[in-house]
Amino acid sequence: MKNLNILENSLIKRDLTYLRDERTRQYQFRLALRRIAFILAAEIGKNLELDELEVKTPLEITKGYSMKQQIVFIPVLRAGLSMVNSFIEMMPKAKVGHIGMERNEETLKPRTYYYKTPKNLDKSKVIVLDPMLATGGSASAAFSFLKEHGANNCVLASLIAAPEGVKRMEHDHPDIPIFTAVLDRELNENGYILPGLGDAGDRTFGTL
Ligand code: PRP
Ligand code: URA
Repeated sequence: MKNLNILENSLIKRDLTYLRDERTRQYQFRLALRRIAFILAAEIGKNLELDELEVKTPLEITKGYSMKQQIVFIPVLRAGLSMVNSFIEMMPKAKVGHIGMERNEETLKPRTYYYKTPKNLDKSKVIVLDPMLATGGSASAAFSFLKEHGANNCVLASLIAAPEGVKRMEHDHPDIPIFTAVLDRELNENGYILPGLGDAGDRTFGTL
């Protein structure tokens, strides 16, 4: 799993415990997810390219930096929406596109029902946000779509990844680094991640 970056962080371990716990209430679930998304954004931020510039402090001129590339976030609806605010706070000039995808509960194949992305994806750093990488079908289809629209510098930010999804991504999109808070054990027969946290969209939006 050479593309996989698993974050080692005690705050993430604590917050994942809240996310997994079936007793966690919706507002606590959202807050814990937001906090982990901050750390993911900071981790992905470590590798972003910079331009050098000069900045004048009240005392003298010194070296400063600005982001080299336009950053574009692409949350995969619905659950990816839960990560957007944290990423925007860390990278406030980012643009945001949306891809609407829903897994068919029987075939586990994703169906795309919406997309709207900013122009010039080919010149942008594209960060796809989706908390769950299960079979990898949704993420793989999202990146295929984005590449067809010119994206060539992409990364996936996820919360929980299953080995099956990581393998699928490495097969279909070997150029895409994956950042995740944890790698879980496996999928069950319904395509849910074990031990996982259940349905991320339903738990975030209260549609259980
Ligand atoms: C969830 C999740 C991912 C997808 C992962 O979305 O947010 O997009 O499943 O599964 P996969 O790796 O097997 O494709 P879901 O289809 O449940 O839609 P929702 O976010 O609207 O609940
Ligand atoms: N989507 C979810 O929300 N949870 C899973 O465990 C798998 C896919």
